[in-house]
Amino acid sequence: MSADARPSLGPGLDEPVEDRFGRGPVDEHFAGVEDPLADLPDDLLVDVAHAVRDTTIREVLDRLDSDLVALHEVKRRVQEVAALLLVDRMRRKIGLDSEPPTLHMSFTGNPGTGKTTVAQRMGEVLHKLGYLRRGHVVSVTRDDLVGQYVGHTAPKTREVLKRAMGGVLFIDEAYHIYRVDNERDYGQETIEMLLQIMENDRADLVVIMAGYKDKIDRFFSDVPGLSSRIGHHIDFPDYRPDELMDIARVMVGRQQYRFAPEAEEAFRDYLVRRMQQPRFANGRSVRNALDRLRMRHANRLWDAIDGGDDKVSKGDLVTITADDIHASRVFHFARDPETS
Ligand SMILES: Nc1ncnc2c1ncn2[C@@H]1O[C@H](COP(=O)(O)OP(=O)(O)OP(=O)(O)O)[C@@H](O)[C@H]1O
Ligand SMILES: [Mg+2]
Repeated sequence: MSADARPSLGPGLDEPVEDRFGRGPVDEHFAGVEDPLADLPDDLLVDVAHAVRDTTIREVLDRLDSDLVALHEVKRRVQEVAALLLVDRMRRKIGLDSEPPTLHMSFTGNPGTGKTTVAQRMGEVLHKLGYLRRGHVVSVTRDDLVGQYVGHTAPKTREVLKRAMGGVLFIDEAYHIYRVDNERDYGQETIEMLLQIMENDRADLVVIMAGYKDKIDRFFSDVPGLSSRIGHHIDFPDYRPDELMDIARVMVGRQQYRFAPEAEEAFRDYLVRRMQQPRFANGRSVRNALDRLRMRHANRLWDAIDGGDDKVSKGDLVTITADDIHASRVFHFARDPETS
């Protein structure tokens, strides 16, 4: 694809893309080989260690694995992409061609299942793997892309695409862009520009569309050509109680608190009850619950100080007790569990 055949996004978008998987430099030794497929012997060895050392693949995958609980499908997909990009890199060293793979994705799932969190990480991951030249993430919704008046939409969308080039464009609740019942909706213009960019500039921009599964499915069936431009459709399932508990442990540890031994059981009990109540939002509900726990923990210490304690131990400062948890209204038929 030549640069002039791209949609006109304005200046600044045709920066040279160098040293990336699929496009990295051929090793000097093989640079003169005209047709590596025919001219190089099949038993020629390529140094794997060298290709792996050149990148931080293992480090990136290990960090993703330890930072995020569960999400096995997401992790497996990232692993597969990493393998493809690594093999691509080794092929490139001996002069074999490979087209950059299509890495546009859709993330579907209920609230708080980790879609935004993973999208935020994806930019960094694809950058470290050498696919994206910048690896930043631009997060948008319909209002950032679609204008209110004639002639506003194209410049708005163009500006966002320009900002996202070299990184990830994350479109949350992507289905709001397109209103099937309104032919004059300006969202159509955005869709057309997205379709074009997703095809022509797929090596320089990864588009991730996120939202509820049924709405995303409907959106894909309403917009021909969209689903087929997306290489990875990934579903984010609701977390099970033990996975929510693991998320809680990660969050508690990251904030340098700890659960007292009996608090673990109490929090598990809390989660099982909370899951059955309205507006449960997976990881987000865990985070909200921990925010409130910190408040109750602080109030408990405050009450002790008020009552005459003049020393607070480190243990006191870091330990969340079962009583802190049992004070939640979730145990007492809360009307709005997200604020209790
Ligand atoms: N697998 C996980 N490991 C650790 N933390 C997680 C995980 N999944 C979600 N969380 C945490 O849960 C919270 C909500 O996650 P996030 O915002 O990514 O959800 P979402 O799927 O984008 O939700 P929504 O559909 O409502 O936008 C965040 O604080 C996130 O860090
Ligand atoms: Mg989100």
